[in-house]
Amino acid sequence: MSKIAVFASGQGSNLQAIMDAISAGKLTASLELVVSDKPAAFCLTRAIKGGIPTLAINPRDYPSKDVYEGVILEKLLDLGVEYIILAGYMRIVGPVLLRPFANRIINIHPSLLPAFPGKDGIGQALAAGVKETGVTIHYVDDGIDTGPIIAQERLFIGVDETRESLEVRIHAIEHRLYPEVLQEIFVRGKKENGKTGIT
Ligand code: GRF
Repeated sequence: MSKIAVFASGQGSNLQAIMDAISAGKLTASLELVVSDKPAAFCLTRAIKGGIPTLAINPRDYPSKDVYEGVILEKLLDLGVEYIILAGYMRIVGPVLLRPFANRIINIHPSLLPAFPGKDGIGQALAAGVKETGVTIHYVDDGIDTGPIIAQERLFIGVDETRESLEVRIHAIEHRLYPEVLQEIFVRGKKENGKTGIT
């Protein structure tokens, strides 16, 4: 079973979808830790309610990003975490975490990347007046939403679409797609590790 940590900064609805998929037996993973850079964020409440260990860690309490990420890394290594799942984590991941977790950090973004990377992908799509947008799941590299794309799902923006209605539709896709795609990644990862003898 893959050991994972979810990083989140906000509401944590994707975290909830992952927790629910694990409980339902649809996602074969062990959620070892929820990390949040926002100690008051609701995602932490969800984790605590679900009995998941949490790490609330404010980067401002550390002299540098490297030191901040070093504290997180130590905890992840202690727990034997294999994958970092970003779910609304509003920070760029630095080399301290990227290097040891190369190709094992995954993110979800509410647009069809490479369109509308960065903050507020939903608002950017609406402001641009495009006819379609969607959801992207990708590996994380050192850029902003630039890593290799794993999966995408598109939706058409209705003529009377509002910010609220689009948000609801995008989230519905995210909550179904993220656990599904993660499951595929974990199953594939275990098969490949099996071949090389790594466990
Ligand atoms: C999601 O739309 C995700 O795509 C983006 O941030 C949002 C997080 O929402 N990266 P939540 O905190 O999971 O509710």
